[in-house]
Amino acid sequence: MTSAMVATFAGFAGFAASAQAQVKEVQMLHWWTSGGEAAALNVLKADLAKQGYAWKDVPVAGGGGEGAMTALKAMVAAGNPPMASQMLGYIVLEYAEGGKTGDITATATKEGWDKVVPKALQKFATYKGKWVAVPVNIHSVNWLWFNKAVFDKIGGAEPKTFDELIALLDKAKAAGVVPLAMGGQPWQEATMFDSVVMATGGADFYKKAFLDLDEAALKSDTMKKSFDNLAKMRSYTDPNYAGRDWNLATAMVIKGDALVQVMGDWAKGEFVNAKKTAGSDFLCFRFPATQGTVIYNSDMFAMFKVSADRQEAQNALASATMSPSFQSAFNVIKGSVPARTDVPDAAFDACGKKGMADLKEADAKGTLVGSLAQGYGQAPAIAQAYHDVVTKFFHGEIKTSESAVAELDKAINAAK
Ligand code: GAL
Repeated sequence: MTSAMVATFAGFAGFAASAQAQVKEVQMLHWWTSGGEAAALNVLKADLAKQGYAWKDVPVAGGGGEGAMTALKAMVAAGNPPMASQMLGYIVLEYAEGGKTGDITATATKEGWDKVVPKALQKFATYKGKWVAVPVNIHSVNWLWFNKAVFDKIGGAEPKTFDELIALLDKAKAAGVVPLAMGGQPWQEATMFDSVVMATGGADFYKKAFLDLDEAALKSDTMKKSFDNLAKMRSYTDPNYAGRDWNLATAMVIKGDALVQVMGDWAKGEFVNAKKTAGSDFLCFRFPATQGTVIYNSDMFAMFKVSADRQEAQNALASATMSPSFQSAFNVIKGSVPARTDVPDAAFDACGKKGMADLKEADAKGTLVGSLAQGYGQAPAIAQAYHDVVTKFFHGEIKTSESAVAELDKAINAAK
């Protein structure tokens, strides 16, 4: 356990004591500690404060939520879960299966969530017909985020193919700018690989390999080519990328120290928080050859069982999260798009409007697919195996694409 985690767990002891105390208190465990993330969450805190609810914050730093999920596991094992926790996809279902989640179905029925939340998300927010979580947003991972001034300086044009992206990265290199802002942490590398696989093999291949775990697809030449392409991208990072937090990589693009970051649209939250404007300061394009497909994840607030006197606060939290005006205000800041299909795009910038239009198109075409890196492809053990193999390859511990393919297949089968 790191010293930061020890400090975090020490903090939870205090949390336990106060957990009993307040009936008009909502508690939330989350990993939204970057500038953009915290700003977005403040919208919810303010909305609940207006209704007279105190906010008990349980933040556990670490993009992608690995640290937060470790901390949560310990709290649940100790019989001391928070009222609610940020969670991704299959993890919600694991807690539901374990009998740990609460039931907010009455609020869901009263407010008609089943008519406005996409079916793909309902699969993860409900368990055996009961609502156990609320989706606060829909993020997608197949995006490129460019610094516009650097892009213009090197004579950039939107890369429509993987090779065009590589040519653009070469131009940045020649101009003395770091081409690819990269955070070398397993979840970030795996998140980028989701897009690389989609670009290399297309939506049907992605679905076969990552959603169906089809052996032939996992062991295919296309998977090998995907690792080859990932290796190409690696050659455009700066030497200090290992271990870097995702938001520090975004900051490199914001400052113009790097050309581009491949990241989920939470990166946009950092641009917005730095008062940068879509279209004039930064540009968002889909990862080349993935326009028309959306690799999504959705942050859910999963509800844990609470005592009867705290049910009202839990319902208030769920209801505030699902309010259309909140879903607009929050997602404008967060970089994601609303999890409700009935929220207008009027308040959103060009990237947000594009995100909403792309989502609609992908949903209609059957090309809205869950992110394996971000908890929406497979159960947590398999997602973890994926992170492990991709990061070992990225950092050179697995040396060739052939062995990466074999290791990935082996690790996925072992985790099944
Ligand atoms: C993702 C999450 C996003 C963002 C990101 C970086 O897993 O869905 O909301 O917070 O991690 O922390």
